[in-house]
Amino acid sequence: MKREQWNTRTGFILAAVGSAIGLGNIWRFPYITYENGGGAFLIPYLFAMLSAGIPFMIMEFSLGHKLRQAAPGIFEQLGISLNTRLQWLGWFQVMIAAVIGIYYVAIIGWSISYFGLSFTQNWGNDTNQFFFSQYLQLNDHSPSQLGELLLHIAIPMLIAWSITFFAVYTGIKGGIEKANKLLMPLLLIMVLFLISQTAFLPGAQDGLNYLFQPDFSQLFNPKVWSAAYGQIFFTLSVGFAIMFAYSSYLPTKSDINNNAIITVLVNCGFSILAGILIFSVLGHMADQQAQPVTNVISSGVGLAFVTIPEAITHLPIPYILGPLFFFTLIVAGLSSHISIMEAVISAIIDKTKYPRKKVATLVCAIGVVISLFFATNGGILLLDLVDYFINNLALLFSCLMEVTLIAWFIKATTIRFYANQLSDFSLGKWLDLCLRFISPALLLVILIRNLFNTLTQGYGEYALIEQLILGWGLISLMLLISLIIALCSKPIKPSPSITDENPL
Ligand code: ALA
Repeated sequence: MKREQWNTRTGFILAAVGSAIGLGNIWRFPYITYENGGGAFLIPYLFAMLSAGIPFMIMEFSLGHKLRQAAPGIFEQLGISLNTRLQWLGWFQVMIAAVIGIYYVAIIGWSISYFGLSFTQNWGNDTNQFFFSQYLQLNDHSPSQLGELLLHIAIPMLIAWSITFFAVYTGIKGGIEKANKLLMPLLLIMVLFLISQTAFLPGAQDGLNYLFQPDFSQLFNPKVWSAAYGQIFFTLSVGFAIMFAYSSYLPTKSDINNNAIITVLVNCGFSILAGILIFSVLGHMADQQAQPVTNVISSGVGLAFVTIPEAITHLPIPYILGPLFFFTLIVAGLSSHISIMEAVISAIIDKTKYPRKKVATLVCAIGVVISLFFATNGGILLLDLVDYFINNLALLFSCLMEVTLIAWFIKATTIRFYANQLSDFSLGKWLDLCLRFISPALLLVILIRNLFNTLTQGYGEYALIEQLILGWGLISLMLLISLIIALCSKPIKPSPSITDENPL
């Protein structure tokens, strides 16, 4: 079966940027920045971008481009050259993508509902009460007592699933590339318009000061560094099979370094724009309520669905700016959700050789059914718990394994030479330094810290049994399934391309 290919270079870059820019930029980045000292967070964030973001992107683009397979096939090939079997790591990454894809769609679903509500700001004065009690109907449920299926959440989720399904069913050129060519420019125009309407409102400056004024004492706080690295992997879609899949559809002649750096810079630049938007709005609301900025913010999920709706009410033309904000969230979320599901679909197509349409239908159908757990009364709690374990443990573990295996055993220089020979400009030894030393060392320290904290203190207020089953149990199950699939697959023959003379 001939591998599909992107139609144009711009098409690929827009798809990669579309994958990277998502809820992580608009929903997660502002509240993580807020929780980690505002401006102080930006220094570790930029350091993480340079030391891990760009190197990982170059590494994943190079391997996807060279080996032209989804993550399991790539790791299998790499394993062969090391006389070992590594396919399980590829499947583990695919599992991470599958789990994220299943709960990610719930947040797109909430955004679709809020898009509808925002025309009349139908969330009343107490947006906190509205979100948790009226919309999510959380009451006293828990991740293990989910309550009922709530149709007003399930239906918008199904709308999101249908759009993702349409894109992945249609394929790389016709579906994913076209969708991103439409969605990405739209996203940028909407955000710039929203900023132009909010950044000059009274009080906006105070919000922006909070975002940009550094609190250097926070730089010595390991939590801030851990948050910065965690955010970089999630926001750039690296470490969970996506960029391997997308770059496996690149044509032979592709500029790896340029594509990777553009993708990272556009994504991180967009996060800063989203931060400017959100903090201007919050600053304005604080001004209207005659309160300091820090008093008006509720962090976590609440930022997008509690504080922003309240702030929208204080904006001029809220019936336009409100829907536009939630539409931006939907567009960013969908373009990422498409890539997350493509990571799963491409791996299954590679393994089974079934046609794309069949695999896309099956994967999305299973995804829809499982995602309904997140459309229940306790859905948000389940989401919070699973999101914590996946992002703070599974994803970091996957990234640490990936970078250690590739940079130490396949050799970072090999990756660099491969990318340089295809690119307009060459990258120096700093890339090897980041891949061999800085990224693995920081990932190791952060992962050990997260493991220690989660083992000793647990996460949040959830019952121990819930954390054991839905957190630790889920990760163990993902590892087990990955190992079983890898063990049941016939070892593939070494590719002639992975030899000592032509190591990649
Ligand atoms: N990179 C995607 C996001 O930031 C997953 O939402």
